[in-house]
Amino acid sequence: MSRIPTLADLGDVRGKRVLVRTDFNVPMENGEITDDFRIRAALPTINWLTERGAQVVTCSHLGRPKGQPNPKYSMDPVRARLGELAPGVELLENLRFDPGEEGNDPAFVAKLIEGIDMYVDDAFGACHRAHASIVGPPLTLPSAMGLLLQKEVEVLLGLRNDPKHPFVAVLGGSKISDKLGVVEALLRVVDSLVVGGAMCFTFLAALGNPIGDSLFEPDQVDTCKRLLEQSKASGKTIHLPEDIVGVDAQGNFATFGTRLPEGAKGFDIGPGTAAAFSDVIMDARTVFWNGPMGMFEDPRFEAGTRTVAQAMADTKAFTVVGGGDSAAALAQFRLDDEVSHVSTGGGASLELLELGDLPGLDALRKAPNA
Ligand code: 3PG
Repeated sequence: MSRIPTLADLGDVRGKRVLVRTDFNVPMENGEITDDFRIRAALPTINWLTERGAQVVTCSHLGRPKGQPNPKYSMDPVRARLGELAPGVELLENLRFDPGEEGNDPAFVAKLIEGIDMYVDDAFGACHRAHASIVGPPLTLPSAMGLLLQKEVEVLLGLRNDPKHPFVAVLGGSKISDKLGVVEALLRVVDSLVVGGAMCFTFLAALGNPIGDSLFEPDQVDTCKRLLEQSKASGKTIHLPEDIVGVDAQGNFATFGTRLPEGAKGFDIGPGTAAAFSDVIMDARTVFWNGPMGMFEDPRFEAGTRTVAQAMADTKAFTVVGGGDSAAALAQFRLDDEVSHVSTGGGASLELLELGDLPGLDALRKAPNA
């Protein structure tokens, strides 16, 4: 794998117009940004360039407007926030307003880089997309990865290639099918896997437990059986819940064991499980966490995710949180400064862990200055 150029490889940037692809796909509610983490995360790169006299033009997608202009996905609120954090830095309109972005159309790339001298990719969260703004500019322009992208790659490839043991992966969220590739890749490198979130019901069902009306994926039961057998054969442990919190058939809050009665629905790991998962995290030297343990947006079902988040903050292990919902949970509990690294990428962090490479990184490796 050849080298990916870094900012220093751009040479003198003074007076140069530098296009910086950022991931400003921030969560919004009623036209307001609810978390500006991804904007703040791009500042070190933007400042590095402006301090050296470059003229920075940023660009990003926001949401999924499907190739058409749509005021709901306008960059205006992001531009206003960026203006406060980095005055004078330009931000283009939502890249996905043009079908050429997702279609990786060379004509769109040409338009994007008109009048641009250099390209920097700092959009880790979008590097798993082979879209025009990610893979197009490095074909012709001197290019580099930004400081955020560089840090993400170092941390996540470090986990994949050289973790300190015991290495524990904590996985939650609703669908095992979405994460199957990464679960299999992680099982090769971790010492144990901790499974919560709705995906635990597919594992519990694979062990023959009735799971009431809880969310699960019937077509993944055999896969879970195979993963359980595979891990056993290779001396790894898959930790599953021993108690579950949810509602009974009448809709009342209830705590169950691993066998849920008819009509019951599980929405969080129970207190015994949360304590056990916490112990595993405390004893680890490396922990990767992706996906909440339950429906933490509802205060009745936040305890499991909160306990895991607190253990991530308290353990002496090197702790990495994959973006998306688990990062949002950490922020909700105000623990985001207490872990070693919070990734800005959800899908991208999982894909990098699974495959060890991303289309955006591959494109940078082939840049003319690489
Ligand atoms: C993300 O939020 O994970 C990235 O910005 C990528 O967005 P996408 O899944 O719409 O491509």
